[in-house]
Amino acid sequence: MTQPALSHDASPDQPSAFAADVRSGLTHAPQKELPSKYLYDEVGSALFEVITVLPEYGVTRAEERLLAKHAVDIVEHLPHDVTVAELGSGSGRKTRRILEALCKKRPTSYCPIEISRTALQLCRRELGDIERISIVGYERDYLAGLAEVSKKRAADERLLVLFLGSTIGNFGRLAATRFLRDIRNMLAPGDALLLGTDLIKPTPTLIAAYDDAIGVTASFNLNLLARINRELGGDFPLDAFEHVARFNPDARSVEMHLRATRDVTAHVAAANLTVSLKAGETIWTESSHKYRADEMPAIADDAGFVCSHQWLENEWGFAESLLVAQ
Ligand code: TRP
Repeated sequence: MTQPALSHDASPDQPSAFAADVRSGLTHAPQKELPSKYLYDEVGSALFEVITVLPEYGVTRAEERLLAKHAVDIVEHLPHDVTVAELGSGSGRKTRRILEALCKKRPTSYCPIEISRTALQLCRRELGDIERISIVGYERDYLAGLAEVSKKRAADERLLVLFLGSTIGNFGRLAATRFLRDIRNMLAPGDALLLGTDLIKPTPTLIAAYDDAIGVTASFNLNLLARINRELGGDFPLDAFEHVARFNPDARSVEMHLRATRDVTAHVAAANLTVSLKAGETIWTESSHKYRADEMPAIADDAGFVCSHQWLENEWGFAESLLVAQ
């Protein structure tokens, strides 16, 4: 077996950006909010790995089943000689099937783009043994990382962008189309985007997926306040907050909040912030939008792609759509 090439293109963490985002989110009226990307520190990334194996959270397993079944067919529909850039690799487990199918045909470069250093490390460990793969991790925001990968590629190389796990659902609908357009603007015609979307399903199933019985998702959400306490000198009393997941039928999204169970005043030293919440008031941390598979062609079109193929998983309800840049 050949030794995979490993390198790591790190950028320093920016505590000041975190502080600034916490400050603007917690002073946002009427709804206080915190950006969900800060859920994924070392603790949060480990908790999310647990979420992916919870019985209530069918999303990851559905996508793994889909990719296990269709990876070879998906690869058949891709352009030749692709460099793979993945937005938010996580542990890399679900990506394995596609990379194996690609590397079987030819040596392939894989560039995971992750803000979580822990996830990048996990993903190297998980995928480093695939034959003929070379892995270059980028510790970056999605678009900054993609810009770099795109800049470094050779003229005759195509890009395949993987955006799996239904992370697109964490954008609002308009923002999702805008984000896809931003991706498109970094691609050349003929490049491709494989997009995973969780599909709309009965509300109780959706709520359970984001509010599991043993409280892992609650811990994952609460860790955001704990992280502010740890990294920014905050003093949020964690016992005064509870995790809430509710379905918003207009947006077709599950909203995650942290609800104050009593009046709370907290300070965040590094953000130079004092914040007060009334009992019952919430901090919105994340939304997960659900799609219908037949919406994808119009969304793709709006963003400058053509949806050329779709693969569906019907047991849980998950779609993988192949979007080709026009
Ligand atoms: N992309 C995942 C999703 O929306 C992220 C996620 C799963 C999540 N469970 C969560 C985010 C709980 C915040 C809270 O399905």
